[in-house]
Amino acid sequence: MPRPPVSAGATQAGLMEQYEKDRLGHLLASVERHGPVVELTEGTVLVNDPAAVHDVLRRTNTDFLVTGNIRRDEVSGVRGDPATEAWMRGRRATQKGMSPPALEAHRAWLTEETERLCDRWRARPSVADPVAELELLSARSFARFCFGTRDAGSAAPRTGDLLNALTPLISSPFHFPPAVRRFLPRYRRSVSAQKNLEAELRRVLDGPGEGGLVDALAAAGLDAEATVRMLVSNGLASYRVPAAAVTWALVALAREPEVSEECATAVNPDGTAVPDILRWTIAESLRLWPPNWLILRTANGEQNCGGWSVPAGAAVMISPYVVHRTAPVFTDPLTFRPHRWASLQPTAGEYLPYGIGSRWCVGKALADLELATVLSTLVARFRFTVDHMDPLPDVRTTLLPARLTLGLRAR
Ligand code: HEM
Repeated sequence: MPRPPVSAGATQAGLMEQYEKDRLGHLLASVERHGPVVELTEGTVLVNDPAAVHDVLRRTNTDFLVTGNIRRDEVSGVRGDPATEAWMRGRRATQKGMSPPALEAHRAWLTEETERLCDRWRARPSVADPVAELELLSARSFARFCFGTRDAGSAAPRTGDLLNALTPLISSPFHFPPAVRRFLPRYRRSVSAQKNLEAELRRVLDGPGEGGLVDALAAAGLDAEATVRMLVSNGLASYRVPAAAVTWALVALAREPEVSEECATAVNPDGTAVPDILRWTIAESLRLWPPNWLILRTANGEQNCGGWSVPAGAAVMISPYVVHRTAPVFTDPLTFRPHRWASLQPTAGEYLPYGIGSRWCVGKALADLELATVLSTLVARFRFTVDHMDPLPDVRTTLLPARLTLGLRAR
């Protein structure tokens, strides 16, 4: 089997510089120039062919491994390995805990808290950095969903501290050897932020109260250590990503007032059934701006990928952002057109904002609830405008609108 075409025409340092200037633009241009499987630099392969994307992600935990723990400095093991099995047990228990009745019970709290946010926004002509405000809502929502009647204490702000400490570490394209990495001040800061969060989570778990996801985890046999591990990973995943998703949808609605009116009219005051137009708006917004714009795997030995040979240990990059903008199933791919979803049924490899396979998003059910509830509440209360947004998004970790200010007009 041949190796994939290599991105040529510049030195490794030059390519790295291009990538750093505009990561998404660089990936799109590489696919356009070299085809759907391309070796960006020695040992880093971008896979963009929908069938190959599906195949790689389906072979996660066997041929392609997940790149790591929260600091992305370890590759997690294969199926059968005790740590991987423990994680997979935790995943199953978490998904079971996100049952329809548990989610339904959470909806009223989420609606009420979003109404409170609306009341605060009502007094302002604009919101600078809406992601920051929606992050806090999302983090508090997760804490509430997890801890039931227990006092969630400062779990949400401690999660924010950890995320901020991790950002410089995981967004940097420079990879230091593990022995060096552990001595970097940023690494040590992230370890200390993680310890603080874990201590807070243990304190909350030991406190009075009941209900919530943690009871479901205990019922599934997870011990305190495994529970804290699930809470840290899920807490990080549910902090910024849903906030980014809601914000991108607001940006889209601000630019498409007709769709915004259609959503506001269709929204059901009791919030139960999600109207089609809102579902399509969310789907289309996740297509154009998938918050998790990059999914990483490591080849476990030499692997076949779409007919190309990927060397052992290669980093395999899959970008939902690039797939969603290049897969032929999406006509006029750069245009926000929610109504396309009335008849569109892309394959799993063509549309993957939540990933695919054994490591796909554990929190999708909670995320779906949050996106629909928060967005329908906001769109029913306000008309939005984009007062400022930088042309290039912030892609250091989650895909975020850069320096966004949203204008507001109450309905
Ligand atoms: C709009 C919201 C969200 C989007 C678009 C999203 C998307 C994703 C994606 C693309 C992955 C990577 C899948 C892979 O590597 O194959 C992922 C993983 C994950 N997500 Fe989400 N996510 C969202 C919200 C949430 C929420 C609310 C939670 C928790 C309550 C959560 C928990 C996780 C966890 C724990 C993982 C890692 C799974 C593993 O490695 O086994 N996510 N998510």
